[in-house]
Amino acid sequence: MPQQINRRHFLASSLTAGAAVALSSRLSPLQAQSAPSNRVVVAVAGIHSRGLDLISKFTGVPGVDIKYVIDVDKRYLPKAVATVGKKQQTAVKTETDFRRVLEDKEVDALVIATPDHWHAPMAILAAKAGKHVYVEKPCSHNPREGEILVEVAQKYKRQVQMGNQRRSIQYTQQMVQEMREGLIGTVYLAKCFYSRRRDPIGYGQVIAPPAELDWDLWQGPAPRTGYRSNLHPYNWHWFWRWGTGEALNNGVHLLDVARWAMDLSYPTKVSSFGGRWHDVGVDDWEAPDTQEIQLEYGAGRGITWFGRSTNTFGPGNKANGIVFFGSKGILDYDGSGGYTVYGLDNKPIKSVGVNEGKGVDLANSKDPGLKEDHAGNFVNAIRGTATLTAPISGGHCSTVLGQLGNIAQRVRRSLQIDPSNGHIIGDAEAATLWSREYQPGWEPTV
Ligand SMILES: NC(=O)c1ccc[n+]([C@@H]2O[C@H](COP(=O)([O-])OP(=O)(O)OC[C@H]3O[C@@H](n4cnc5c(N)ncnc54)[C@H](O)[C@@H]3O)[C@@H](O)[C@H]2O)c1
Repeated sequence: MPQQINRRHFLASSLTAGAAVALSSRLSPLQAQSAPSNRVVVAVAGIHSRGLDLISKFTGVPGVDIKYVIDVDKRYLPKAVATVGKKQQTAVKTETDFRRVLEDKEVDALVIATPDHWHAPMAILAAKAGKHVYVEKPCSHNPREGEILVEVAQKYKRQVQMGNQRRSIQYTQQMVQEMREGLIGTVYLAKCFYSRRRDPIGYGQVIAPPAELDWDLWQGPAPRTGYRSNLHPYNWHWFWRWGTGEALNNGVHLLDVARWAMDLSYPTKVSSFGGRWHDVGVDDWEAPDTQEIQLEYGAGRGITWFGRSTNTFGPGNKANGIVFFGSKGILDYDGSGGYTVYGLDNKPIKSVGVNEGKGVDLANSKDPGLKEDHAGNFVNAIRGTATLTAPISGGHCSTVLGQLGNIAQRVRRSLQIDPSNGHIIGDAEAATLWSREYQPGWEPTV
């Protein structure tokens, strides 16, 4: 089909070094939309919960066709098909094995909203198959596979974006720019907060997996074990074999904004304390429900993250958000896009979009400053009319911050870090958690 080849040729060639930036400055959005190659074909993998949100976001981007919804649990496919059907004329196909979708040359991009242990391995296979990738946060289960993903994205010249969507909220972009211009002076400390009340998950029983679930493919890169009654869907988050705890579930969003605003990458020292402290002896949840991670950046700068999965106490931003401390003032980020600036006398100086983003669908927000179009940014980067707001190299760095916190937590001591690459220095036991044991045949490679 020559037309298809031309379209794919355009999409591929738009990604050669520097071309995306050059095109973005040359093509107006109108010109880009009128181009015959404007259509971008997407497949979404993992469609129980976040995947449904992403279907809504991607069907809202002009010129996007969702060709496949993919899940190893067939029970979730009909709802995903119906969700696509509400917004899209073209029929969507269902699939249980993403590897078959990677063989379809018409598919331009894979959107990944599976459990965390799948993120990097699936993204790596997709990029090597020529697909662009939108991968949910955290972009990896462990730092090593994140490094491989960054390398693969560069080697295969694919657009790989992480789902740290605050990078695409205009007020947050404005906040970062103002802070970089000295709004509160030199920012020496960011304190990030997250809280939520999650119920205990009980003690799982090893039982036969549901008939509709391909348990072997659900496990994929993770070493094989019996199916348990309390992990799918969602509660895998709290088991180290598949999940990464609250630090990477929600912590990574705010660690990413803090690091971005302060123009920092890897720290020099990482500490963590906490544990399953609130709900004690009630279930087999492994990750902390209460945790504070401290990231030290050497020359008088630092970031902390205080996460609670069980206790929501805290007026206003102390429950969720970031407080930035600067030499000339304080900035209180509400976590949803808005912020308030205070002087050193603690008097408010200005507020931008505060609380307006809480509980609203930012993708459809009526406030242009709070509107988040992370999916649109990704699609336009594929077209060559935009550059990614959250390329995988930065997503990986922010993910490693939480991962180092979890490693420090698990070995119960502080870690010395090489700030050039995030690697752990002089601690062989901690360094074993830089990667993981893989199910044979699923080891990710460049
Ligand atoms: N960016 C955000 O704001 C945001 C919000 C929520 C969730 N997330 C992320 O999205 C991911 C999914 O979260 P969730 O709450 O939807 O989890 P979930 O457990 O509810 O759903 C995951 C789905 O993936 C499916 N799956 C597992 N292996 C698969 C495979 N090989 N191929 C296809 N499907 C597979 C499961 O069957 C399940 O239906 C998580 O990594 C989470 O951190 C991001």
